[in-house]
Amino acid sequence: MKILVIGNGAREHAIIWKLAQSPKAKKIFCAPGNAGTSILAENVNIGVEDIDKLLVFAQNNEIDLTIVGPEVSLVAGIGNKFRACGKKIFGPNLDGAILEGSKIYSKNFMKKYQIPTAAYRAYDDLELAKNGINEFSFPIVLKADGLAAGKGVLICENKQQAELALMDLMKHQKFGSAGNQIVIEEFLEGTEASLLCFVNGKSIIPMESARDYKRVFDNDEGLNTGGMGCFSPNSIFSDNNVNEIQTQILDKTMNGLLSENIDFRGILFIGLMFTSLGIKVLEYNVRFGDPETEVVLPRLESDFVEVIEKTIDGTLTINDLKWTDKMAVTVIAASGGYPEKYEKGFEIFGLDAVNEDIMIFHAGTDLQNNKIVTNGGRVLAVTALGDSLEQARQKVYQNIEKLHFKGIFYRKDITK
Ligand code: AMP
Ligand code: GLY
Repeated sequence: MKILVIGNGAREHAIIWKLAQSPKAKKIFCAPGNAGTSILAENVNIGVEDIDKLLVFAQNNEIDLTIVGPEVSLVAGIGNKFRACGKKIFGPNLDGAILEGSKIYSKNFMKKYQIPTAAYRAYDDLELAKNGINEFSFPIVLKADGLAAGKGVLICENKQQAELALMDLMKHQKFGSAGNQIVIEEFLEGTEASLLCFVNGKSIIPMESARDYKRVFDNDEGLNTGGMGCFSPNSIFSDNNVNEIQTQILDKTMNGLLSENIDFRGILFIGLMFTSLGIKVLEYNVRFGDPETEVVLPRLESDFVEVIEKTIDGTLTINDLKWTDKMAVTVIAASGGYPEKYEKGFEIFGLDAVNEDIMIFHAGTDLQNNKIVTNGGRVLAVTALGDSLEQARQKVYQNIEKLHFKGIFYRKDITK
């Protein structure tokens, strides 16, 4: 089977690493890929939003299956485009992708189908939005409606901060047109968890849970990032709340998809907040999480190509997913300055020095003159499995120390 993976992060490297273990995967391409993906796949120099060129590539190279990593490709309509031409693709069409592409759509969806979520109001007018602030108590959460690379969520402690943030979003267009419409939301207190699920058109099948660390510095200080580390499983999941998640969130979400006639075949990644008033949905994403994928896929024992084919065919069941009891931890090595300004192009040393059982998934890397250099804010995801979380954590930290590039930094408190 010839498979095309779209994207260039550690998520896509982990997807390719898992696909490559399947005897069904005869040849894997990655567009555009990074230095890590080039070891297991053939990189193709086409951008993730250039869906016309991606389709031509898939047709000319007789690709049997295309797997979409990033949301931008899905929100640009790659699902519809490929399916219209009879090309098999893993990821929703536009009617499903809008669950991530528009926060207002997804909040209205949750309201309509009684899925527990933070109270909210939506606005497309700055003055009305400013008045809307008064309806909530502080802190409040402001969200750009459209895609903003995970940065469009602003938590404001007081009215002055909230008004400035609204100006940034709606007037100064800090996130471009993504902020033309916004959501004001009640702040939820609790413990977060990431739940990635396969959706096979008829049912939502959860994977093992994960916990992401979004802030850039230890003790959850500093700015929000794409994610600085992760572990799986997330200990907040227990026999006591499995039923609540199933009935209040998964069943109701599936009912909503079916009622709206959304034929969703791909990944639904549900961001959850465990609060004192129950488990609530923070957001839906319509693709694998990053760095969640780097801890969840190493724990999957089933043939990943088969799992994806069954999801597309509508036959996947929970029994098709076999997981190791081992726990996984990943820590992101990032470029100094991330998530703000950082430099690229620094040579990465020590990749060969790590122990054999350590998985290094490349995020922002490139090959230049046969050297692997930094090419992004998040550079490497270093993953280990262990019999306990502590063992996996120790393995990661013992090995990440062996990696060097100018400006490297990472959080020291992942799992804590
Ligand atoms: P989102 O992109 O909607 O998941 O938001 C990004 C991050 O902002 C989440 O992972 C949370 O840490 C935080 N966040 C979003 N919405 C809320 C909320 N209503 N209350 C508290 N924190 C939130
Ligand atoms: N780690 C969060 C995300 O992928 O959106």
